[in-house]
Amino acid sequence: MENRFEPKSIIVTGGAGFIGSNFAHWVIDNQPDVHVTVLDALTYAGNLDNLSGLPEDRFTFVHGNICDADLLDEIVPSSDAIVHFAAESHNDNSISDPAPFIRTNVEGTFQLLEAARKNGTRFHHVSTDEVYGDLALDDPVKFTEDSPYFPSSPYSSSKAASDMLVRAWNRTYGLDVTISNCSNNYGPRQHIEKFIPRQITNILCGIRPKLYGDGKNVRDWIHTEDHSSAVWEILTKGRSGETYLIGADGEKNNIDVLRAILDRMGKQSDDFDWVRDRPGHDRRYAIDSTKLQRELGWRPKHTDFSEGLDDTIAWYTDNESWWKDAKDAVEAKYAAQGQ
Ligand code: NAD
Ligand code: DAU
Repeated sequence: MENRFEPKSIIVTGGAGFIGSNFAHWVIDNQPDVHVTVLDALTYAGNLDNLSGLPEDRFTFVHGNICDADLLDEIVPSSDAIVHFAAESHNDNSISDPAPFIRTNVEGTFQLLEAARKNGTRFHHVSTDEVYGDLALDDPVKFTEDSPYFPSSPYSSSKAASDMLVRAWNRTYGLDVTISNCSNNYGPRQHIEKFIPRQITNILCGIRPKLYGDGKNVRDWIHTEDHSSAVWEILTKGRSGETYLIGADGEKNNIDVLRAILDRMGKQSDDFDWVRDRPGHDRRYAIDSTKLQRELGWRPKHTDFSEGLDDTIAWYTDNESWWKDAKDAVEAKYAAQGQ
């Protein structure tokens, strides 16, 4: 299929975070004619080191908030597309303090949509499979683009609200939008509050890993580079107004993932602590990505989870300076929550 859209200049919101920075690198490496402007507020989750090495002539960093309409008026007119990753992204944080999630995920998406509407700018919205709620462990069904919305947490409900705004701006104003809902990402540069990097860095620090509830919750893991390539396919070839689910058939339960980490890092399979479950903890996520694969021809490259996990463990082992300063505060926050 030919590209229907060939942007020369894109704004990547949240590009100093885990997935947004991977996307910025992916675009610079794979799309030689595209200029990338990262717009990021550098919250606790943003890190300029994630963008190091990007070439000055093809990359601009703007330090700012997606809720700042005046700033958006300055930078949006000169771009062909907005690829919107910026968000408060962590479920546990949304349970202890939901307010920033509503501001950034709902109000911020609204401001971006308004800026895109004023300028007729193509808009791709990066969302999550969590908007669909959860599935039972013993049910073979997976999420599809037709699954009903049943978000469980303040985080996932704020993302569901943002999806609805994007759909409305397409239907009412004819804004050229696409939405992607992806499953759990893993890989280098993921914040150490998240499951896989938390456990790796715990072991590196001599702290016992922590498993919520009964450890049987299932997540559908995808390497973040596969998320990036899928977002590019949807941005350039996706049909306006459509939603595409992104996943790579990576369903695993948490205890199996933790045991794989323990084994690779030379620990016993029971060298971890059971801790308090997350309130409203979704049981299982699973993605059917048939639409994306059939319509746009996308395929994941990182299909060997063991290999991806080895690389991820090696990255955190080799890049202690990237995460070490944040570790005490992250663990203190979890400890206060009994997790
Ligand atoms: P992250 O928390 O690592 O990064 C978020 C980035 O957004 C940070 O750089 C932060 O500084 C920036 N940001 C936050 N609020 C902002 C604001 N008001 N204005 C400007 N910048 C702001 O998140 P992530 O894991 O990389 O997730 C990126 C996107 O992908 C999110 O929209 C998330 O919902 C979605 N997503 C994540 C996953 C996953 O597994 N992590 C899966 C599916 C979808
Ligand atoms: O499904 C996509 C979503 O995946 C994204 O929208 C979110 O932004 C992203 O954070 C992620 O959400 P999860 O809540 O699934 O990810 P998290 O890494 O927080 O937890 C993964 C699983 O591991 C979950 O079942 C909770 C469990 N867990 C987590 C932590 C931090 C533990 O058992 N122990 C832990 O210490």
